[in-house]
Amino acid sequence: MDIDQELNVDELRGRCLEHSRRAYRLLPPLDQPRILDIGCGQGQQTMELARLCGGEVVGIDIDQAALSRLRQQIDQAGLGDRINAIHVSLFDNGFDDNSFDLLWEEGVLHLLDESRSLPECRRLLKPVEYLVMHESIVWFESIREKLPESDFEFVDQYMLPKHFWWTDYGAPLEERIRAFRETHGDVTDSPKLTEHENVIATIKNDPDRTDCGFYLVRKSA
Ligand SMILES: C[S@@+](CC[C@H](N)C(=O)[O-])C[C@H]1O[C@@H](n2cnc3c(N)ncnc32)[C@H](O)[C@@H]1O
Repeated sequence: MDIDQELNVDELRGRCLEHSRRAYRLLPPLDQPRILDIGCGQGQQTMELARLCGGEVVGIDIDQAALSRLRQQIDQAGLGDRINAIHVSLFDNGFDDNSFDLLWEEGVLHLLDESRSLPECRRLLKPVEYLVMHESIVWFESIREKLPESDFEFVDQYMLPKHFWWTDYGAPLEERIRAFRETHGDVTDSPKLTEHENVIATIKNDPDRTDCGFYLVRKSA
């Protein structure tokens, strides 16, 4: 049984795409850019970036299963000529310096050591171009003063509605899991459900800490 499909987790993750679009529109116009989506996962935002930009999007991730799901979506949408999903780490990616016109990441950089990730982002990005980070306010504030060390300057931000990740993701997912367990009884013990429940508990216990924004930072000349 595909638990994510049963719970329709894609629909919940998709609720945030509207905010990705709004953040994208804060950028200066890009003419058929080449975009790197770092830690793309199953890639809903990767697909959305391709639709928004009219250029090429490269999604990278270390999770092979998530990339397989993304590749299915790419095929179904007929976007194979514009999206490439590659199984590499940000820290071992093989791309040349200045390879991308835009770097995008949603929920990834806070997992990584910023003393390595920010310099690598700087290396991959062309001068004066943008890195967009969808992260919690708490995390962004913790790294904000380190941006200049990697030649990035803060330019703009787009804040998600307060407690978005609770109201539009955690709370409805909790309700779906409750209903699922009621219907399926003992069959329902799975690592996937536990993983979701841990995420829900984290958000529920302190929704302020998961208040998020999209942060636009620019590489210096
Ligand atoms: C919270 S998920 C976010 C996925 C996707 N960006 C989204 O918003 O739906 C974090 C992702 O970062 C990926 N990741 C973790 N470390 C990575 C690394 N060193 N290089 C590339 N991706 C990484 C994970 O495999 C996972 O898919």
